[in-house]
Amino acid sequence: MKDKKPNTLNLLITGGAGFIGSHVVRHFVTNYPAYHVYNLDALTYAGNLENLKDVAKEDNYTFIKGDIKDIPFIDELFDYYRFDVVIHLAAESHVDRSITNPNDFIETNVLGTANLLNAFKRIWINHFEGKQFLHISTDEVYGSLGKTGLFKETTAYDPQSPYAASKAASDQMVRAYANTYGLPYKITNCSNNYGPNQFPEKLIPLFIHNIQNNKELPVYGDGQYTRDWLYVTDHAKAIDTVFHKGKIGETYNIGGLNEWTNIDLIHLLCEQLDLKLGRPKGTASKLITFVKDRAGHDKRYAIDASKIQDELGWYPEMTFEQGLSKTVDWYLDNTNWLKNVTSGAYQAYYDKMYGKQED
Ligand code: NAD
Ligand code: DAU
Repeated sequence: MKDKKPNTLNLLITGGAGFIGSHVVRHFVTNYPAYHVYNLDALTYAGNLENLKDVAKEDNYTFIKGDIKDIPFIDELFDYYRFDVVIHLAAESHVDRSITNPNDFIETNVLGTANLLNAFKRIWINHFEGKQFLHISTDEVYGSLGKTGLFKETTAYDPQSPYAASKAASDQMVRAYANTYGLPYKITNCSNNYGPNQFPEKLIPLFIHNIQNNKELPVYGDGQYTRDWLYVTDHAKAIDTVFHKGKIGETYNIGGLNEWTNIDLIHLLCEQLDLKLGRPKGTASKLITFVKDRAGHDKRYAIDASKIQDELGWYPEMTFEQGLSKTVDWYLDNTNWLKNVTSGAYQAYYDKMYGKQED
């Protein structure tokens, strides 16, 4: 243990080396010099300290390598640092992996969250004033929508994948600790994020990488599945807004107001990449290959974000055109980042998931 900061707000961010977590860490480290940000991350395949090299040396930042599944370690950590606030993002996050290995999701997302709740409760019970456990969740807990309708905070939970069920269980555990022990919590449920530093197992970075390398674009089913896309820094700002202005005991849905069917989004991505790579129009779309559907594939997600907008004044700032263009540029400019994360174990995952292809 090292670097304990007295007389400051000690803020623990879990999963801060991952995609969204790294943007959240950067946001808090740069905007709140009076807080000390501790980033706890196990550095699984999805965690990468390169994502944070620009803030790694800041005085108000400390990285701690560790696993939220490790109870003695978590207990010791909370005893030592006595975190005032937890923003909890650490999770197994990929639906396809949850279909292959559900137990990893139960262990990290459910048990790991319970370990943090137990440690936080133990150090602050009867002294919860000014403390906060902000749990970062997903819109997938609400299940799947038909052609119309939006997920509201009051929509009944109906998770459909092992990932979604593990996140739903963790959300309910947080609420149960509030009801039973008075834990001061907030929960956010967000739609699909995109932007720099997303691991290339997820749709947008995977397809950018494949187009660049002239590999097939594996579209699940008929491609008529709908997602509501939000630029990742807008999510980080929403988390800041809920952290500072949200009410204890409340849930806030966060969305991009930006629905796309997968196939339309893929065509847009193909057009952008043809242009940026200087290839003839129509080159990338020839790579589109319809493949076997994801098991239990949710048809449509769409968020009603009116609560966070009306009550807390948050709105997404990035347009999709700008955001997608920035994202594509980032991946084209950071081929080394991509090379590093797609070597080794990821290559084996890819071959198992999609079949081996010539590079
Ligand atoms: P990610 O997979 O990119 O990152 C997860 C991070 O958690 C990694 O850095 C990983 O090393 C770390 N981690 C995993 N298991 C751990 C453990 N046992 N102990 C400590 N650290 C561990 O995920 P992401 O896409 O950035 O998602 C972050 C959070 O936001 C998740 O809770 C996810 O459910 C939620 N969320 C994601 C999206 C999205 O579109 N990606 C949307 C809404 C909500
Ligand atoms: O809605 C929020 C959720 O969004 C987050 O909670 C998850 O952590 C995050 O992974 C994301 O889940 P999705 O399953 O929606 O994201 P993914 O990028 O895996 O897939 C987006 C859509 O694209 C989905 O309909 C499946 C489809 N798809 C995905 C891949 C990886 C394909 O057609 N082909 C693919 O190869």
